Amino acid sequence: MGRPIVSVFCGALVALALAGCAAQPAHRTLYEDLGGQKGVEAIVSEMLLKVADDRRISAAFAASNLTRLRRLLAEQVCAVADGPCKYTGYSMVESHRGMEVTEIEFNAVVEALIYAMEDLKIATPTQNRLLAKLAPMRDEIIYR
Ligand code: HEM
Repeated sequence: MGRPIVSVFCGALVALALAGCAAQPAHRTLYEDLGGQKGVEAIVSEMLLKVADDRRISAAFAASNLTRLRRLLAEQVCAVADGPCKYTGYSMVESHRGMEVTEIEFNAVVEALIYAMEDLKIATPTQNRLLAKLAPMRDEIIYR
């Protein structure tokens, strides 16, 4: 007598579990893991504070329009992280041409980004996913 009730109950549980799975998005985007728009903006703001504090690179940004740079960096991070943004700035080659950015300077900016993500408690695998998206830009930025 108890058997059919148990199996109906189990069947209902399985159905609920499957419905639960179906309701979940298949993959979280990197953008979501970075905390969405708020998260991305916080990372970029924190990174620019660290850049300003780093003697290896602060001078390079001294004459920059930081409001514009902050907006464009946030767009860029959002776009490469599969967020709902379109990057509207110049290409990496165009925007760094004539600056003769060195590897040391490039690494210093990446370091600023890593420390910003550490401060904001972004999980290490998520940090690495963003760094992997930015790494190919290295050759477009240095010695240009
Ligand atoms: C991961 C490394 C880097 C990324 C992702 C990056 C990204 C960007 C972006 C998105 C812009 C805005 C482009 C535009 O104006 O339309 C920009 C501009 C600029 N970047 Fe970089 N950059 C990097 C490294 C560096 C380094 C190492 C330096 C020099 C030390 C540098 C110096 C500048 C300067 C001075 C500007 C112009 C800002 C302005 O006056 O508007 N960047 N960068």
